[in-house]
Amino acid sequence: MAVTKKNLVSGQATYYIRTFGCQMNEHDSERMAGMLEQEGYARASTPDDASVVLFNTCCIRENADQRLYGNLGHLKSVKDSRPELRIVVGGCLAQKDKELIQRRAPYVDVVLGTHNLASLPRLLRESHEEPSFEILEQTEVFPSALPTRRFSPWHAWVSISIGCNNSCTFCIVPAVRGKEISRRTGDIASEVEGLVGDGVIEVTLLGQNVNSYGRDLDGSPLFAKLLRALDGINGLERIRFTSPHPKDFKADTVAAMAECERVCEHIHLPLQSGSDSCLRRMKRAYTRAKFLDKVDMVRAAIPDVAITTDIIVGFPGETEAEFEDTLSLVAQARFDQAYTFQYSARPMTAAAEMPGHLPKEIVQERFERLVALQDEISAERNERMVGRVEEVVVEGPSKRDPSQKNGRTRTNKLVIFTAEDVPEGSRRSVRVTGAGTHHLKGELVSRPPLRLPVLQAPTRA
Ligand code: 5AD
Ligand code: SF4
Repeated sequence: MAVTKKNLVSGQATYYIRTFGCQMNEHDSERMAGMLEQEGYARASTPDDASVVLFNTCCIRENADQRLYGNLGHLKSVKDSRPELRIVVGGCLAQKDKELIQRRAPYVDVVLGTHNLASLPRLLRESHEEPSFEILEQTEVFPSALPTRRFSPWHAWVSISIGCNNSCTFCIVPAVRGKEISRRTGDIASEVEGLVGDGVIEVTLLGQNVNSYGRDLDGSPLFAKLLRALDGINGLERIRFTSPHPKDFKADTVAAMAECERVCEHIHLPLQSGSDSCLRRMKRAYTRAKFLDKVDMVRAAIPDVAITTDIIVGFPGETEAEFEDTLSLVAQARFDQAYTFQYSARPMTAAAEMPGHLPKEIVQERFERLVALQDEISAERNERMVGRVEEVVVEGPSKRDPSQKNGRTRTNKLVIFTAEDVPEGSRRSVRVTGAGTHHLKGELVSRPPLRLPVLQAPTRA
C-alpha cells in the first residue's frame, strides 16, 4: 500500500477525478482510478475533502483549455488552506501544454501526458518531495494492461486502438495522442469475456478511427472481423463502437453490423462539412457524394439504423455557398442527431495557419441555422418511433424527474419512461409514447424483455 501518512487527511486517503472530453478520456480516468485504488486510495464523490484531485483534460477545442484553467484557479484557494492536497493534471491538454501548466498554475503537483498513464502512482509519490512533471512523446505500454476501476457495472469502454494516423487539418488529436497502435484481437476478446463474467452486458469499442483497426498488425484492416469475433461471446448483449472515419467505412463493416446480432443499429459517422472544397481543405479524403453513398449503403443493409454525425461550422475560408452545401447535405442525409461545433483554431494543426479565419458573428449565425435545421430533422426522426416497442437498457433515474427512468435503445436514443423498481443495467421493453428533439418518452410494457439466443459455441475466428 503506497498511501503515506503525509497525504492522509482523515482516515483513508481519497481521490476525486474530473474528466473533460471524449470517451477515451472517460476510459483513461477509469485506469487512473484503478491505479489509485490499487495504491490504497478510495474514491470520493466530491473534491471538497479529497486527498488527491485529478483533472483528466481535453484540448480538442479552445473552450476545453479555458475550463481547465478556470477549475485550477478555483482549487488554488483550497490548496492554500489545505497544503496536503495533491493536484494532478493529466490527458491531452497536459500533453499539449507541457510546462505551460506549471507556469500558469505552479501549485499543481503532478502533470502527466497521454503516453505515460502508468507513471501516475510513481509521480504522485515523488510529488511529496517536489512537483513532478513527466510528458513522453510515445506510448510505451498499451494502457489496457493497467488496473481499471470501471465506473459502470453493466457497460464498459474497451480500447481497440490508440492514436491516429490521419491528418485532418483542424484536428489536434494526432499531435497529442500519437501514431495509431492496435491491440490484438485475442486480447480484446479476452477482455470482453472477462467483463461479461463480471456482469457487463454492453461494450463500446473505442478508437480514433476504428475502421483502420488492425492495419498496423496485419497490413489490412480487421475491424469487421473483430466485430464478428466479439459477436460470438455469450452473455454479451450489445456492442457499440466509436468512431469510424467515413473514408475507411466500407461494405465489410456494414455487412458485419447487419449480420451480427449483438452489434447495435447505430453508427456515428463524422461528416465535418458537406462542401467538397471544404472537405479538401480539411484533408478528409472523401467527397459529399461518397459520404452520401455510405449513408445509403448503411440504410440499405440495416433497416431503421440511426445515424449520428459531427459537423464543424466556420472552418477557415468557409464561404456562404460552402456552408449551404453543408445545410443541403444535412437536409438530404437526415441524421438522427448531429454534434455541431464552431471551428476552434488549435496549435500544431495545419488549419490554424490557413487564411480566412471567420469572424465570430458569421460563425455563430451559421451555427444557429444549422442547429435549427438539424433540430427539426432530429424531432422528425424521433417522431417516427412513436408507437413502437423498443428494447432499452435502463441507465438509472431520469435527471429531470427522478420518479422516471432513463433507458437507451439499441439505436442509442434516450427514452424517459415511467417505471418503478427497474434496476440499472436491466433490459426492458418500452412502448414509445412521445418524441422530443433529443429524447423519446415511453411506458413499460408488460411482456418480458427480448432475449438473444445463447450460442452453442463461440464463432470467433
Ligand atoms: N474545432 C472545432 N471542432 C473540432 N473537432 C475536432 N477538432 C475541432 C476544431 N479544431 C470536432 C470534430 C470531431 C469532434 C470530436 O470534434 O467534429 O469529429
Ligand atoms: Fe482527428 Fe481526423 Fe484523426 Fe479523427 S481521424 S482523430 S478528426 S485527425
